[in-house]
Amino acid sequence: MLKTTLLKATEASGKILQQYFNGSFEVSSKSTINDLVTEADKKSEAVIIDVIRAAYPDHFILSEEVGEMKTASNVKWIIDPIDGTVNFANGIPICCVSIGVEKDGEMILGAVYNPFMNELFLAEKGKGATLNDKPIHVSVKSNLATSCLVTGFPYKWNQGPRDPMQVLDHIIREGIPVRRLGSAAIDLCWVACGRFDGFWEHELQAWDSAAGFLIVEEAGGKVSDFSGNRYSPYQKEILATNGHIHSALQDLINNGK
Ligand code: IPD
Ligand code: CA
Ligand code: CA
Repeated sequence: MLKTTLLKATEASGKILQQYFNGSFEVSSKSTINDLVTEADKKSEAVIIDVIRAAYPDHFILSEEVGEMKTASNVKWIIDPIDGTVNFANGIPICCVSIGVEKDGEMILGAVYNPFMNELFLAEKGKGATLNDKPIHVSVKSNLATSCLVTGFPYKWNQGPRDPMQVLDHIIREGIPVRRLGSAAIDLCWVACGRFDGFWEHELQAWDSAAGFLIVEEAGGKVSDFSGNRYSPYQKEILATNGHIHSALQDLINNGK
C-alpha cells in the first residue's frame, strides 16, 4: 500500500535527521552560497528512495538532490529529504522530511515529519488531514488585521513590482504579525493545524510544497497562486490560508493598501 510505504520512508528519514542533528557533517553550497546541502540531506534521500524502490521499483521519483528518476509510471513520489536545511545546518530543530505522492497528475498523499517535535502531518486526498493521527483543521479567523502569518524568502531574487520585500512591506505596514520559520513544508502544516492563518512565498519548488499543499487543502484551507488560480506545485508562487482571509491577503500581496 502506498500509505504504508510513505510512512516507512518518512520514519526512516526521521531517524537519519536525528542521527546527524548537531553532529559534524559535510555542508556544501548549491545555487547560492546559502542554498545548502548536507551529508544528512543526501543520506535521508538515499534511505527514502531505497524504501520506495523496494516496494515500487517502477515508480517515477522526483527528489531535490538527485532530480528526476523518470519512468513510465502514473505514480510520482515528490521528495524533499530535509526541508529547512539552513535550520538543520545551524542546529535549529525546525526542519522536516516532506514526501508527496502524485497519481495521474493529482496529489493523493502527503506526509511531513519533524522528528525534533515528533510531529507527523499526513493527508490523503478526500480523507482529511491529521497530526499524529488526530484530525486537524485550519483556523476560523476571518479578520486579516488580527491574523498571524508566515512567509519565506528565496535564496536570490530580482527586484521588481510585487517582489518579496515589497509584499512584506505591504503587510508589515498594516501591523500584521509575520513569522519566518525557514521550512515551507512546516509553514504549510502549521496553517493546516491552525497555528497560522496564512502563508505565502514567491519561489518554491515542487518538493517544498507537494505534501504540504494537500495537507492544507485536506484540513479545509485554500491554496492558490498570487492571482487566485488553483495551485500546482510546478509553479512558483504559493498562497495558502484558512480560506476566510484568502482574498484579503491576496489583495494585500498584489496591491498593498
Ligand atoms: C527551503 C525552505 C525555506 C524556503 C526556501 C526553500 P530547503 O527549502 O523551505 O523555508 O524559504 O524557499 O528552498 O532548501 O531547506 O529544502
Ligand atoms: Ca525545501
Ligand atoms: Ca531540501
